[in-house]
Amino acid sequence: MKLAVTGKGGVGKTTFTALICMALARAGYDVFAIDADPNATLLGCLGHPAPETVEPLVKLADLIEERTGARPGHSGGMFRMNPFVDDIPANYAQTVNGVRVLVAGAVKTGGSGCYCPENAMVRALVSHLLLEEKVALVVDMEAGIEHLSRGTIDSVDQLVIVSEPSRASVETVKRIRRLAADIRLPRVVGIGNCIRSPADEQFLRAALPDLEFAGFIPYDERIGEAERAGRSPAGASPAVDEAVARVVRLFADRLTR
Ligand SMILES: Nc1ncnc2c1ncn2[C@@H]1O[C@H](COP(=O)(O)OP(=O)(O)OP(=O)(O)O)[C@@H](O)[C@H]1O
Ligand SMILES: [Mg+2]
Repeated sequence: MKLAVTGKGGVGKTTFTALICMALARAGYDVFAIDADPNATLLGCLGHPAPETVEPLVKLADLIEERTGARPGHSGGMFRMNPFVDDIPANYAQTVNGVRVLVAGAVKTGGSGCYCPENAMVRALVSHLLLEEKVALVVDMEAGIEHLSRGTIDSVDQLVIVSEPSRASVETVKRIRRLAADIRLPRVVGIGNCIRSPADEQFLRAALPDLEFAGFIPYDERIGEAERAGRSPAGASPAVDEAVARVVRLFADRLTR
């Protein structure tokens, strides 16, 4: 199972990623997560005690050079677009609450777009990791859509767009869906987050009538409390946990069909 989580800034992408990773682990999956947001927060959200001490992959210049043939920051010259990455999860992941996390780190794109050695590594990690049965990969993405390039996410089973019940968040969902259609991503689902009432859910369904929603996650202030205390959001709110477990069952059913 490969999922990429996207949506407008601040709608709960990282929180949802942490929740679904832990729920997948509880459901018996071997779970890998890639924090592909340059402003990495997934380790902390999962409850890692000192996330700032973890070197992101893009900082491992020697490793990137060894695998791609070029040092990070290099653009324009020659480097391998399909570096060997099969051993990276085992050797570089941080295990937190049963989830093995790889922090990609910030890639300076400059004028080179996504054609740089660092990005080739991250792209290869998302697309080439061969997942066996009961292995899941979840990618927490940067807000917005520019990085939704073909190659990085066209290998995912589901693009999961998280949205709050707000007009601004819905507009971002629409833009992401258009881009996903442009790059022919077939499986796009929505997650409604911070749902405080049936009217919130109704607002999202009405605003996005042709989007399939994989679930609606209630608002619960204990999620924010957990974040401020440096604890993972799983276990903080029974209603949130139940909603996320339903999403896991939906994705699992879909894969076995
Ligand atoms: N269901 C929820 N109930 C209550 N608070 C929530 C819920 N989901 C997320 N939050 C809170 O909302 C804030 C933003 O969440 P989060 O960091 O996951 O968003 P994000 O989309 O990853 O943001 P960014 O775009 O900066 O990466 C956090 O303080 C989080 O605790
Ligand atoms: Mg985030």
